[in-house]
Amino acid sequence: MRTTCPGPNTLAARAELDAFQETGALRFVVDVENSRGCYVRDVDGNVMLDMFSHIASLPIGYNHPTMLEVFTNPRNVATLAHRPALFNLPPAGYAKTVRETLMSGAGLTHVTTQMCGSCANENAMKQVYIAVANRRRRERGGYGAGDVSEEELSSCMVNRAPGSKPYKFLSFHGAFHGRTAACLSLTHSKPTHKLDIPAFEWPIAPFPRLRYPLDDPACAAHNAAEEARCVKETCELLDADPDVVGVIVEPVQSEGGDNHASGAFFRSLRAECASRGVKFIVDEVQTGCGASGTFWAHEQWGLDDPPDAVTFSKKMQIAGYYTKADLVPDAPYRVFNTWMGDPGKVLMLEAVLKCVKNDGLVENARVTGEYLREGLHALSRAHAGKLHNVRGVGTITAVDLDSSAARDDAVDALREEGVDIATCGDRTIRCRPGLYFTPKHARVFLDAFDRVLARSSG
Ligand SMILES: Cc1ncc(COP(=O)(O)O)c(C=O)c1O
Repeated sequence: MRTTCPGPNTLAARAELDAFQETGALRFVVDVENSRGCYVRDVDGNVMLDMFSHIASLPIGYNHPTMLEVFTNPRNVATLAHRPALFNLPPAGYAKTVRETLMSGAGLTHVTTQMCGSCANENAMKQVYIAVANRRRRERGGYGAGDVSEEELSSCMVNRAPGSKPYKFLSFHGAFHGRTAACLSLTHSKPTHKLDIPAFEWPIAPFPRLRYPLDDPACAAHNAAEEARCVKETCELLDADPDVVGVIVEPVQSEGGDNHASGAFFRSLRAECASRGVKFIVDEVQTGCGASGTFWAHEQWGLDDPPDAVTFSKKMQIAGYYTKADLVPDAPYRVFNTWMGDPGKVLMLEAVLKCVKNDGLVENARVTGEYLREGLHALSRAHAGKLHNVRGVGTITAVDLDSSAARDDAVDALREEGVDIATCGDRTIRCRPGLYFTPKHARVFLDAFDRVLARSSG
């Protein structure tokens, strides 16, 4: 570190931005050209181990040659230079690119690309509403999509029933699914996201709060009872309201505090949804693309029946969602926007997938995650009482401190030690490095954290 961070050049750049945008969230200004791999350099010449990776969205670090090649390859220029209205005018060869990238290992049969994680969740929900409305029309003896009354057509234009449906999605306390209108009604991580903004009064179920270590018999007994309670309350909410047509859940509640649940919990949820005809969406926006130690975190649950939809963004570079065939909209323009994604971002995903495959990055995340957690356990023993609840899957690893203040102080001190890492929940530090983060990088972090904890008063 050459200066404190934020240093003078960041502060000057921030003052410039202040003239025309809100800058409260600005951490430091990045010298992108001179950042490399897992290390980010700021405009003051400080080089930091990047363990947040642009909110978990930078998959293969800075200036990876495979990614740069996407932009220097003459064959890609036309795609990168023309952002198309993709669902109207896709470029030649697009189907092949999607088949070989997004559809490789998708698990589900259909994909719809979007612009960001919130767009993905928002539109996946719409596809559920459309499919459920058509199913209910058929169940009433109608013909599904074609069997719409004049009253439905006119009432939907003024946001009223029967055209506008009263359908609801169930989400979980502590969840984060984005900030667009419907997504914000599913998000319950922090009041600052929601204050003053209208929201739907949809049901919210408890998400398990597990105790650690998981293999301690007393913790295991508590956790089993806690998960059973959460499933039971979810079922009660579903049974109380036939308008609840979908459930959305994160494999790891990330913004909400890195809250985990067992495979058994998710299998129960999936089964309870299926038995009620309620659609089950898994939000893999933050957990997808390998960091969990499997390509999709939900692969670790051992589901018999896959989710009805899986949403993605961040490390995937392109956002969107996979669905089963029954969720495909019944007509064009039912789920639509101008860009519907971006073929340029699919090329970036192609580069990411090449690295994931050639360099074994999913396995790397699994191995490095274990190393990281072993190291955090060792630190919690060495600094008794200061660290709690080491947990994680792959490098999606977290640890709690005693309080928000202790956590924030530790994150500031880590920055001074040359490690940029993020927080979530009330008192959690979360690791979200890129996919090339190895035990060697984890060691750098653990040694820095050791020094920080040794200095802290506890
Ligand atoms: C699990 C999850 N879902 C959805 C979103 C929203 O994604 P975006 O910020 O791209 O709209 C996020 C963002 O952090 C997320 O973590």
